[in-house]
Amino acid sequence: MDLLNKILERAKANIKRIVLPEGDETRTLQAAEIILKEKAAHLILLGKEDVILKTASNLHLNHIAEAEIIDPETSPRRAEYIDLLYNIRKNKGITYQEAEELTKNPLYFACLMIKNGDADGELAGARNFTGDVLRPAFQIIKTLPGIQVVSGAILMFTKTPQYGENGLLVFADCAVNPNPTAEELAQIAVCTAKTTRQIGEIEPRIAMLSFSTKGSASHELVDKVVKATRLACEMDPTLLIDGELQADAALVPSVAHRKAPESAVAGKANVLIFPDLQSGNIGYKLVERFGGAEAVGPILQGMAAPVNDLSRGCSVEDIFHMITITSNLAIK
Ligand code: ACO
Repeated sequence: MDLLNKILERAKANIKRIVLPEGDETRTLQAAEIILKEKAAHLILLGKEDVILKTASNLHLNHIAEAEIIDPETSPRRAEYIDLLYNIRKNKGITYQEAEELTKNPLYFACLMIKNGDADGELAGARNFTGDVLRPAFQIIKTLPGIQVVSGAILMFTKTPQYGENGLLVFADCAVNPNPTAEELAQIAVCTAKTTRQIGEIEPRIAMLSFSTKGSASHELVDKVVKATRLACEMDPTLLIDGELQADAALVPSVAHRKAPESAVAGKANVLIFPDLQSGNIGYKLVERFGGAEAVGPILQGMAAPVNDLSRGCSVEDIFHMITITSNLAIK
């Protein structure tokens, strides 16, 4: 878990403005308190100032007053943001009245702050559904050039140092795209390589997972993974990537030796790209629960600016780590 400390230290050395739309949510405030104490970010809490400060006081949090507190409904910036939202979405049929209404929603307001250059990143989801956090980010912040899909990577700190990078693996997509096309899967692989370098600080060795290894089964689902592997290589010829590989062939050297002896990735993968969201989401939760791995994320990737989504079951510690990761993602 040295990596999480390094991420914290990087956040402290590169102070970023992180907006928390669920500004009066208890766990969010408790995590904010630690961030402020550590001086690890400039925090912007959205909500009613009196409610936020009262909640903080009830929780005996002494540092919350150091955060910037903005009420989207009364902010002097609101008119500017209404115009911004209207201009971004008018070709999608939004009316000015709808833009006025939406800017009162902290999840929209936070994305508009980022789009307007008033914040560097956002973290939400302790109270809101994933879709409600992601939709405004997709609509307002949009994707990086050359990328059409945002996806979610999870850092898996496993108790099995023989796998991955001394037990650390990156899994994706575990959070967003229910049924990606081959093109989308290729983008997910390329974005995960970037996250692995930027946040995981390791050089990615990417396995494109399937139920087949190198033609052991034929099915259209296998064809999709083979095509995605080829497309990812075309997008970034420097990537160390191989597929289709079964999970054991990706991870276990003796199995790799038998099933994919020519592969430069098989047996030593540290990045696992799952063929769809069902396998990715189920896969990481099984490793977390059966294997006792610590899962940190999802880290959203492919977005033009960092927005991250929490599980509603998240702990204070999860929120704390995700604020520092969001800050790291904002470092240019
Ligand atoms: N990347 C980038 N943009 C996207 C993506 C994506 N993956 N998906 C949709 N969009 C864009 C669309 O292009 C569209 O943009 P536009 O309005 O400018 O044209 C906008 O987002 C809305 O698109 P919809 O198709 O209407 O998207 P919808 O709102 O139906 O669904 C959502 C998007 C909510 C993310 C959906 O894919 C979803 O629910 N995914 C599963 C999320 C989830 O429940 N994950 C599991 C929990 S997380 C966990 O356990 C770690």
